[in-house]
Amino acid sequence: MMSKNLPVFCAIVIFGLFTQSSTCTNTKHGYKTKGMFVFGSSLVDNGNNNFLRNSFAKADFSPYGVDFPLGASGRFTNGENVIDILGKKLQLPGYIPPFNDPSTRGTNIVHGVNFASGGSGILDNTGALAGNVTSLNEQISNFEKVSLPELEQQLGSNNRKKRLSDYLFVVGSGGNDYSLNYFLGLAGANVSLQAFTTNLTATLSTQLKRLHGLGARKFVLMAINPNGCSPMATARVPTQEGCVENLNRASLMFNANLKNLVDDIRPQMPASKLVFVNSYNILSDIITSPTSQGFRDASSSCCEVRQVSEGGTGILCKRGGSICTNRSEYVFFDGLHPTEAVNDIIATKAFSSLLRAEVYPYNVRKLSQI
Ligand SMILES: *[C@@H]1O[C@H](CO)[C@@H](O)[C@H](O)[C@H]1NC(C)=O
Ligand SMILES: *[C@@H]1O[C@H](CO)[C@@H](O)[C@H](O)[C@H]1NC(C)=O
Ligand SMILES: *[C@@H]1O[C@H](CO)[C@@H](O)[C@H](O)[C@H]1NC(C)=O
Ligand SMILES: *[C@@H]1O[C@H](CO)[C@@H](O)[C@H](O)[C@H]1NC(C)=O
Repeated sequence: MMSKNLPVFCAIVIFGLFTQSSTCTNTKHGYKTKGMFVFGSSLVDNGNNNFLRNSFAKADFSPYGVDFPLGASGRFTNGENVIDILGKKLQLPGYIPPFNDPSTRGTNIVHGVNFASGGSGILDNTGALAGNVTSLNEQISNFEKVSLPELEQQLGSNNRKKRLSDYLFVVGSGGNDYSLNYFLGLAGANVSLQAFTTNLTATLSTQLKRLHGLGARKFVLMAINPNGCSPMATARVPTQEGCVENLNRASLMFNANLKNLVDDIRPQMPASKLVFVNSYNILSDIITSPTSQGFRDASSSCCEVRQVSEGGTGILCKRGGSICTNRSEYVFFDGLHPTEAVNDIIATKAFSSLLRAEVYPYNVRKLSQI
C-alpha cells in the first residue's frame, strides 16, 4: 500500500534478507540515513518475541498480519508498524530484521537491527507478567555485545562514531512501565505517579547516554500513546465515559518529561541530535475526530480480543478469531495496538510534519538530512 506513494522503492526484499549493495542509498533527496536501530516495546517489535521461550506477549498467529505480505510475523498489528513505514520513507532497502532471528547476522545487519520486545519496558522488572521479555537494558546490551561488533566487521572498525552517525536510533518504550508495572502496584504502594515518572525519565536518560557512549548520534524518541483510550482500558472501566483519565495522565506526564529531555540531554551528549515524536497528540487527534481522517470506529478493537474474563489480558486478539472487514476504518486493531492505517499516519507525521505539537524540534526527514 505504502510503496505506491514512493517515487523510488529500491528493491523487493524478502523479510530478513538484505544485500550490501549501496545502490539504494538515495542521495537525490539528501537522506544520509543508512539504517535504523530500534529499541522498545510491542509498538515497534517486529518479531523478536517469536523467538523467546515462555513469552505470552506474542503476535505470531492469525489474525495478526492479515494485511502483511508475510502474514503473522510477530508485529502487533494487521499490517506494517510505524518502523516499517518510516523505513520506506527513509528509502531503506527493506524491513529492519529482528535481532532474535538467527539470520540477523553478518551482511544482513548493515541497514540496522530491531531489538524491541513486546511487553518490555524501560525498567528491568516491567513485563514480568508477560513472561519472557527483553528489557530495554538487555536490548541495549544486545546491540553492544552482538550487533555492534558485527557491524564493525562489516563496515570496518575505524571511526565508529562517524559510521554510527548514519543510523537513526529509535526508542519507543515506557507504556508498559505504567500498564504492566506502576498501575499493577509493582513500584510499591507509596510511590507517587510523579516520583515514578521522574525515575522512569532518569532511567531512560541513562540508557540514551549509554547508546551515545557506544556511538549513537541521531535519536528518535517516541511518546507513549493515549492508552487510556484503548479498548483494553475502556473495557476495564466500563462505567467511565470516554477515556480512562489516570492512564492518559501518566502518558502525558511521561511525554512532557521526554520532550524536555530532548533539550536537557543534548549538552550532555556531544554532537547528538534528537527528535521527539508526539504520537500521543497524533493519535488523540484521530480519536477526537475520527471521521475527518477516514476512520469509523475509534473505540473498539477490530479483532476479537481475548478478554480478562476469558483468561486473557484484554489486549491480544483471539487466536484465529474474527476481524472487522475493513481494517482502515478502525483505529485499534486489538485491545491496545493501532491498525496499520493509524501507523501510517503516525509514521508520515513523524517523517514530514511541520507542527511542533507532533514533532519536536523538527521532523525525522530533517534529522536524516542534517
Ligand atoms: C527466554 O527465551 C530465551 C530464548 O528462547 C531462552 O534462552 C531463555 O531461557 C528464556 N527465559 C526464560 C526465563 O524463560
Ligand atoms: C505509606 O504512606 C502512608 C501514609 O502516608 C503511611 O502511613 C505508610 O506507613 C506508608 N507505607 C509505607 C510502606 O511506606
Ligand atoms: C529508580 O528507582 C529504583 C528503585 O527505587 C532505584 O533503584 C533506581 O536507582 C532509581 N533510578 C533512578 C535513575 O533514579
Ligand atoms: C475502507 O475504509 C477506508 C477508510 O474509511 C475507505 O477509504 C475505503 O474505501 C474502505 N474500503 C472498502 C472496500 O469499503
